[in-house]
Amino acid sequence: MFQALHETVEYIKRKTDNFQPEIGIVLGTGLGGLVNEIQVEYQLMYSNIPNFPISTLEFHTGKLIFGKLNDKRVVAMQGRLHYYEGYSMQQITFPIRAMKALGIAHLFVSNAAGSLNPEFKKGDLMVINDHINLQPESPLRGSNDSDMGPRFPDMSQPYNRTLIKQAINIANNNNIKCHQGVYIAVTGPNLETKAEYNYLRIIGGDAVGMSTVPEVIVANHMSIPVFAISVLTDEGFPEVLEPVSLEEIIETAKIAEPKMTKILSQLISTL
Ligand code: HPA
Repeated sequence: MFQALHETVEYIKRKTDNFQPEIGIVLGTGLGGLVNEIQVEYQLMYSNIPNFPISTLEFHTGKLIFGKLNDKRVVAMQGRLHYYEGYSMQQITFPIRAMKALGIAHLFVSNAAGSLNPEFKKGDLMVINDHINLQPESPLRGSNDSDMGPRFPDMSQPYNRTLIKQAINIANNNNIKCHQGVYIAVTGPNLETKAEYNYLRIIGGDAVGMSTVPEVIVANHMSIPVFAISVLTDEGFPEVLEPVSLEEIIETAKIAEPKMTKILSQLISTL
């Protein structure tokens, strides 16, 4: 991987006049709007970056965006990669490795997720304070490069506590309802059955989604502090489960997005 990473990072540096981001951002389904707050300096299509996987979803535009957000230098992935698209875990997380090599010191992640907690309603936000990985593989499987991180990384605090506290304060100050909870990562792309939603709640989940955890594991492997937030786009409550379409999920994400964007934007300015 070292050789591929070197090639990718050299290409990006060349195309961005050596732009050195301090913060990496991964935006989830229907949540690309934070990009509108960035004073964009450079944009690279994934398809032009050597070794970058290409997002196969047409609603994911697949661009790496470099610029300033509240005076901080950021690199944002507009369009994330999912395991269900057929990539390996190493491919999905390759951009996080590249962002680290470019210099990021923090990672911010957003996603759309289904609520498992009856108190957490569709359209609410949830700061992720822990996770359960039900995806079938770890992105760290295979030989370990000890220059990047340890063979057996600690995961006792995968989400930065200070950032969680600050985010909740920002939400309170802006009258935004924002919960905290446990995110469970599943493979997808199918949504869950009633029995599965029931099971996910019983094992300790507050929200379920198909992303985020691979990126968080890799960021932790490289000792990058992480902040992650879910927009709850549907309610996986078994007794009253209704069919839900991708269009509805994206619609709810769009409606709730300005609240999330406000929190992320203010949180980034505190760094
Ligand atoms: N389950 C899994 N992934 C999701 C959901 C869900 O209910 N909603 C948004 N992403």
